[in-house]
Amino acid sequence: MNTYKIINGILVQVKGQVPSINEHEVLVRIHAVSLNYRDLLVIEGIGQWTPIEDRIPLSDGAGEVIKIGGSITKFKVGDRVTSLISPNWESGKLAPEKIIVTLGGSSLDGVLAEYVVLPENALSKFPDYLSYEEAATLPVAALTAWNAVIEQSTLKLGNTILIIGTGGVSLFALQFSKLSGYHIIITSSSDEKLKKAKELGAHHIINYKKNKDWIKEVLTISEGKGVDQVVDVVEGDHITESLKCIKSEGIVSMVGVIAGIHGSIDTGMIMSKAARIQGVETGSTEMYGRMLAAMHLHRVKPIIHTVFPFEKVPEALLLLKKGDHFGKICIKLE
Ligand SMILES: NC(=O)c1ccc[n+]([C@@H]2O[C@H](COP(=O)([O-])OP(=O)(O)OC[C@H]3O[C@@H](n4cnc5c(N)ncnc54)[C@H](OP(=O)(O)O)[C@@H]3O)[C@@H](O)[C@H]2O)c1
Repeated sequence: MNTYKIINGILVQVKGQVPSINEHEVLVRIHAVSLNYRDLLVIEGIGQWTPIEDRIPLSDGAGEVIKIGGSITKFKVGDRVTSLISPNWESGKLAPEKIIVTLGGSSLDGVLAEYVVLPENALSKFPDYLSYEEAATLPVAALTAWNAVIEQSTLKLGNTILIIGTGGVSLFALQFSKLSGYHIIITSSSDEKLKKAKELGAHHIINYKKNKDWIKEVLTISEGKGVDQVVDVVEGDHITESLKCIKSEGIVSMVGVIAGIHGSIDTGMIMSKAARIQGVETGSTEMYGRMLAAMHLHRVKPIIHTVFPFEKVPEALLLLKKGDHFGKICIKLE
């Protein structure tokens, strides 16, 4: 079978045997995978994301169950499933032990392979209306957006949410905000992407590159008070920009690390606004189930930018790094 591994710090395509399973495992034939920003951190070996030698990267894939071990009860041969990045976070609130083990990072092999072996708690069935490519976009980007916009949010119908950027997480945040009836402002560096975001239902669009006073525009739209919640995928020093955009007692959802894992923050503003800074980790299997049910009910279709063939994984990663994408970047395994 074909797979990609990180060998001597470089991503290389290698051939191997179809793996065997034990009684607690499931063999899945992967049909599609999707890329996340985290995959770049893993493949480039940055900080806590540095993988061990021979690691198969990528957390997000969708495929068909080919074989099950004797003790498997949740799945049968032929089921269409996605991976789950944090198999040990099955339910309840976040705890350190629930996210120590993650797919395609420093602890476990991922899904960039034709066949993968996973325990049943690392898999979930998905609704029939989704293709393998669409389903492969869900485990990280969609679940994180769902957690930020629905599970951790206190917003009500008509409240205002500001979504930063139009990457994978941000577009799912837009789609879930639309489902919830929020008043949506979205920012981007590209007018073309903003036009598409408007077509997806954003009420206000702001080009943060062209408009250096974009925070003022956010405040004008929100009648001078500020927004109820910001979904911030940039972080670093950007958190203070987000704080400026919220109203008193508003929420800043800290999702991303694009500007790094450290930044200066206006602590006085946190106090004077009684701001809630909400860190967001991906989410639990239970949350994933709730998200799939809502998506199924409303037939939410993930936005896919491009589907690459398996041989073109390096090109797909370059596209992600360049940031020209609007929607998820997928790879199809024939
Ligand atoms: N906490 C978690 O569990 C979790 C889960 C998933 C992702 N993340 C993190 O969330 C971040 C986004 O992930 P992703 O997969 O959505 O990435 P992505 O698809 O690469 O999207 C990133 C987007 O961020 C926007 N952006 C970049 N720099 C910006 C800036 N200075 N100001 C405003 N917007 C900016 C860009 O939007 P435009 O192109 O429209 O300008 C870009 O498309 C990453 O740091 C990732 O590691 C965290």
